[in-house]
Amino acid sequence: MYRSHTCGELRISDVGKKVTLAGWVQTVRKFGAITFVDLRDRYGITQLLMGEDLNAVLDANPLGREFVLQAEGVVSERSNKNTNIVTGEVEIAISSFKILNKSAVPPFTIQDDTDGGEDLRMKYRFLDLRRNAVKKNMELRYAVSRSARNYLHENNFMDIETPFLIKSTPEGARDFVVPSRMNAGQFYALPQSPQTFKQLLMVSGYDRYYQIVKCFRDEDLRADRQPEFTQIDCEMCFVEQEDILNMFEGLVKRIFKDVKNIDYTEMVERMSWEDAMWQFGNDKPDIRFGMKIANLKSAFLKSGKITATGELINGAGFGVFDNAETVLAIAVKGCSEYTRKQTDELTEWVKRPQIGMNGMIYIKCNADGTYKSSVDKFYTEDKLKAIADAAGAVAGDLVLILAGREERTRKATSELRLEMGKRLGFRKDDEFKMLWVLDFPLFEYAEEDNRWVARHHPFTSPKPEEIDIMINNNPLIENADKYLEHPYSNIKANAYDMVLNGNEIGGGSIRIYQRPLQEKMFAALGMSEEEANHKFGFLLGAFEYGAPPHGGLAFGFDRLCAIIGGSESIRDFIAFPKNNSGRDVMIDAPGPIDDKQFTELQIKLNIK
Ligand code: AMO
Repeated sequence: MYRSHTCGELRISDVGKKVTLAGWVQTVRKFGAITFVDLRDRYGITQLLMGEDLNAVLDANPLGREFVLQAEGVVSERSNKNTNIVTGEVEIAISSFKILNKSAVPPFTIQDDTDGGEDLRMKYRFLDLRRNAVKKNMELRYAVSRSARNYLHENNFMDIETPFLIKSTPEGARDFVVPSRMNAGQFYALPQSPQTFKQLLMVSGYDRYYQIVKCFRDEDLRADRQPEFTQIDCEMCFVEQEDILNMFEGLVKRIFKDVKNIDYTEMVERMSWEDAMWQFGNDKPDIRFGMKIANLKSAFLKSGKITATGELINGAGFGVFDNAETVLAIAVKGCSEYTRKQTDELTEWVKRPQIGMNGMIYIKCNADGTYKSSVDKFYTEDKLKAIADAAGAVAGDLVLILAGREERTRKATSELRLEMGKRLGFRKDDEFKMLWVLDFPLFEYAEEDNRWVARHHPFTSPKPEEIDIMINNNPLIENADKYLEHPYSNIKANAYDMVLNGNEIGGGSIRIYQRPLQEKMFAALGMSEEEANHKFGFLLGAFEYGAPPHGGLAFGFDRLCAIIGGSESIRDFIAFPKNNSGRDVMIDAPGPIDDKQFTELQIKLNIK
């Protein structure tokens, strides 16, 4: 027996017990003739006391950090107790110990506040994983998956595995491909998601499917994206959108309860995609705070709404507003007393290349009812008041205004809103707000190819009342400049995204389940009949054998864990993540393969 207890287990009530512990040496401290060792394992840290009688053994077998130690002794009460740890009232008076294995000096300290930079910690991820902070993240991840599995099991979902060596699934990224030795010159694609398989399972009658599953996407990486990531992937049949929304907000609520002991009892808010874009400037609004975006000039979306304030800001001789395609504003609560230095700093912030604006205008709505602005020269106080009113500002607020090209200005205003929300403490890690974003457009226009692409994926159904528009219109876009006038640009999808604190944590749709509509969809995306059959003949064929109405969604499991854990980076919640170049620096992958492997695969490199 290596151990009788773990290093997190012993309490004052255990005093007098003879115990054996095994773990890693966190620290060794010598006080005169006595040596204290903090022994650590997954469960905690226990202090070992090695008396004078062990000094000769210690001299012959010096201990170092991260040595693996087995030690036997009696639990005794500590004279100076450590209230920061659960075992802090006791220590083990050691009678004998054994070094089970030595350790080289670790490249960084295995502590919460480590001295190791991220690169070093990634290279030695197996050591990083010993740190309490990382361990807590792994535990949270496991708790989320356990909770999800329990909920889904209780609701009759069945966990069914689907293959990894498949044919391309279109989720909008590039595929990772795997050459087939037995089928020379042919390649598998790794699944970007199990999308088509879960739909086939519905045709097979497994009416509630789920899987916590790896997905692979060769796309540019960010803090919330990895080339291989995990989804909680679900599909149901005989359901409408409402059933899906209820089932899966139930899942996230259950996770909050099980993992954070949070009772999320309120209804999850719902917002149309159009409102999200208008009021928050993006399709994943952080609704923990208001500060909605006001459009001071003209529409930035195709519905072409022009606000009543349009004429207010136009024609005052202020070129930046007069000539801008769009002028957007936010009212920042209680910041009218910002100094010149502070507004200058914000102006510099919006000018950074990532934000890309040329400048920023402000109006201070002073507490005494007066208005002060960076464009006082062009606008009377009455007009400033009218603009501030249109931005939803009240006395004490600071109105921040950006003007320029539609898309960039919208993005920049959205970023500015999030930044101000952060600075003012409105985006708290321990406050959680879910939101369903609904009614996405079915299609997006791809300028480079002058054709439609599926905004979610090609298996998403249009709203039932809009199916006819799809069937009865030719998808060809004759005038690329006027694609917004094409009837397809107005078709809404039966699709939904779940947003948590401004992050897209999941998305899905009600699917097409009839062959003719699916064929029409492929054609709308510019696929010839032959191509559609070649790529998706298996699905089209299956739809001829009694495909039930169905729909589903997938949560980004890593993202969900990161947000619940209060972190910006999903890497913190993945045991062995990749860096921003898609490399695993610990195992040094990707790497070259042997000539023999190339020969077997009948592949020649052609690197330019
Ligand atoms: P979608 O492509 O929206 O939908 O993906 C679902 C969720 O997965 C997460 N996600 C990612 N997480 C980490 N790294 C990535 N590279 C990454 N890409 C996506 C996001 C996203 O919301 N088959 C459909 C689902 C369906 O229709 O049922 C799909 O995969 O949180």
